[in-house]
Amino acid sequence: MTPQQASELNEALCRRAPVIPVLVIDDAGQAEGLAQALVKGGLPALEVTLRTPAALDAIREMAKVAGGVVGAGTLLTPRDVENAKAAGAQFGVAPGATDRLLDACEANDLPLLPGAATASEAMRLLERGYTVQKFFPAEANGGAAALKAIGAPIPQVRFCPTGGVSLSNAPDYLKLSNTLCVGGSWVAPSDAVASGDWDRIEALAAEAVSKLS
Ligand code: 3PG
Repeated sequence: MTPQQASELNEALCRRAPVIPVLVIDDAGQAEGLAQALVKGGLPALEVTLRTPAALDAIREMAKVAGGVVGAGTLLTPRDVENAKAAGAQFGVAPGATDRLLDACEANDLPLLPGAATASEAMRLLERGYTVQKFFPAEANGGAAALKAIGAPIPQVRFCPTGGVSLSNAPDYLKLSNTLCVGGSWVAPSDAVASGDWDRIEALAAEAVSKLS
C-alpha cells in the first residue's frame, strides 16, 4: 500500500466521526462489549493501543463487531505491525514515525496514521506521501494554537490531534481547517471499562457525537 492510499483511507476513516476513541484494554473479555457500546454511541473507528498483553486479543474480538473499524495504536516496531495485521487491525496509529515502521506498514498493507509533532516531522511525512497524520502529543505540544500555526505553511497535511484532548478542548481543534477528527481516551474511562459500564460509555460516545459533529 502506498502512503497516498493509506492517507486516502485514513482521511475517510477520520471523517466518519469527530472522535477516534483511544483504548487501553486489560481484559480481552471486555473488548466486544466496549466496541459495541462505542459503535452504538456513534463512534465506529476504534484504536486499541498495543500497551497491554490483552491488546491483540482485544483487536481480534473487536474486529467481529458489526459497524466498527478497529485499528491498532502505539505501533513502534515492524513486529507490532505484523501482529496488528494478523489480529485483524484495519488501520494503524503511531506516536511518531520511523522509516522502518513506515516500510513495514506499506509492505503489510496497513494504512498508518503516523505521528508528527513539529513542522519538520510533518514535512518529512508529506515528502513520503502521508497527507494525513496524527498530531501528538497535541495539548503538551501547544494545542490547537500550535496546530493552526503548522497549518499556515503546510495546509495540505490534515491531522488527527491526540493527547490531552477532551470534550471541552476538542472544538478548538475541530474548527481548524487542517483537523479531520480528534483522538482521545475520555470516551472510555478506565473505571467504566473495568466495571463493564457500557451504558456510561455509550452515553459518553453519544455526547461526543452530538456536541462535536
Ligand atoms: C495516548 O497516547 O494515550 C493518546 O494520545 C490518548 O491520550 P489521552 O489519554 O490524553 O486522550
